[in-house]
Amino acid sequence: MTILDIRLIPDPVLRKKAEKVEGPSDEIITILDDMAETMYNAPGIGLAANQVGVLKRLIVIDCSTEEEEPNLLKMINPEIITSTNEKSELEEGCLSIPEHKSNVVRPSKVEVSYMNLNGETEKLTAEGLLSACLQHEIDHLNGILFIDHISRLKRDMIIRKVKKQLRENEK
Ligand code: NI
Repeated sequence: MTILDIRLIPDPVLRKKAEKVEGPSDEIITILDDMAETMYNAPGIGLAANQVGVLKRLIVIDCSTEEEEPNLLKMINPEIITSTNEKSELEEGCLSIPEHKSNVVRPSKVEVSYMNLNGETEKLTAEGLLSACLQHEIDHLNGILFIDHISRLKRDMIIRKVKKQLRENEK
């Protein structure tokens, strides 16, 4: 397995829409394995293919706490099929926007359909952290970042700070 480079804003690949995948080919399974290793190494609780420069609809998630057993989800073509009107607010961060966090309001509960590694369609209903994480990662596949859900003022401030940090790292 390989640890992949995580793309940071303002990399344009983060703003592109990823394409549907036909099924779990060897290539797709390798990408998902590498994405999982990259996520755990970061460390993070979710990663979308856009974030490693791959425009395919693939995400990996593990929202388990340190006391729990790992619960790695590898999803092909994940899609939100229902979401509640009720909203929840949780603090989010993103491996592509390092060192910045913000509260984000999203539907509390979602039902997601996706293809598993056997090419079968599965459904998952989630609430709490897993719900927010699924919505965050599926957003990535549509070129949407968590900062798009917060005030423009706060978004612009975060983008400015990350760009400044990147410039300083280059010196
Ligand atoms: Ni993210």
